[in-house]
Amino acid sequence: MTCSEAQSIQQAIQYLKQGKLVAIPTETVYGLAADAKNQEAVAKIYTVKGRPKTNPLIIHLSDHSAINGFACNIPKAALQLADSFWPGPLTLILERHPEVPKIVTAGQNTVALRIPNHPLTLSLLREFGGGVAAPSANHYGRVSPTTAQHVRDELGRQVDYILDGGPCEIGIESTIVSLIAKDPIILREGAITAEQISEILGQKIQNGHDSKNEIRAPGASLSHYAPSKPLLLLDKEALLNQARILAEQKQPVSVLTFNPCPDFFNQAQGLWIQAFPNSQDYARDLYANLRRMDASMAEWLLVETPPHSKDWLAVLDRLSRAAFKKIL
Ligand code: TXA
Ligand code: MG
Repeated sequence: MTCSEAQSIQQAIQYLKQGKLVAIPTETVYGLAADAKNQEAVAKIYTVKGRPKTNPLIIHLSDHSAINGFACNIPKAALQLADSFWPGPLTLILERHPEVPKIVTAGQNTVALRIPNHPLTLSLLREFGGGVAAPSANHYGRVSPTTAQHVRDELGRQVDYILDGGPCEIGIESTIVSLIAKDPIILREGAITAEQISEILGQKIQNGHDSKNEIRAPGASLSHYAPSKPLLLLDKEALLNQARILAEQKQPVSVLTFNPCPDFFNQAQGLWIQAFPNSQDYARDLYANLRRMDASMAEWLLVETPPHSKDWLAVLDRLSRAAFKKIL
């Protein structure tokens, strides 16, 4: 760690202790952090994001033993998953410890916990000593930030300090697993897959989408991760047709596809982004690509539907929520 990184961490800790908001880098996306035990500071997160108070926050911790201060009746499965995947892109839903302010959990008796895997944030959390509540550092329903500049562009002076930890390595939000019911349930897909979790727990894991109980991460069913311009999710053929028609009409359009740029497309009329063919690289760049397309002159954003295979589930989830939904 460089001298200036160490100074930035000290500065960020000071702000958190003063009840201010600090944007923190994680391996998934940047978080908008406040001291989890400071109710007024946590209330500011909801205001700045424009997030409904019914949508609970994730508490970020520095080490495994800290779970006991934030959750109760911790099942063995939680410890097994924490041992295998923390620090990393996995959030566990557990029973809330009475000392966790209810504003963090949106009044629920459950709490979301994770240890993120980013050297600056881990060192901040260790020295800070407590838990840090942090949703993704974007306005409610919008595209999550994966660089410090994204946070600056989106929240500007509404955030008191930004700890710049470079671009996020994973690029989409953590997998969320609820361990509240008898059987574990995945509430949000992420880089850690159902197969990896099943393997550790030695049992098949249910996906929240398939669950009869309809247990979902609150807020997860709404339109989310959305650019401000309408995004159409199309198969390859439809996308190429649509792009050709718009190009012929000289209408600005931006495209995210696995195809190389065709001759008919004029780069002066928008962006043609050829995405990586593998899901990990695709996910890492996804939100930066959506932001670039949104900032382009295009009025419509066309995105090619990725393959419907297991390793694309988390990306497909984000894209289908980001896609334009006409509200009738
Ligand atoms: O990768 C991530 O998880 C990032 C980084 C910053 O850690 N954070 C993140 O936070 O994505 P946010 O607030 O954008 O998404 C958290 C999700 C929300 O859908 C919320 O409803 C769900 O976690 N959640 C939080 N507490 C919960 C609880 N007690 N029960 C069920 N879902 C919960
Ligand atoms: Mg979010």
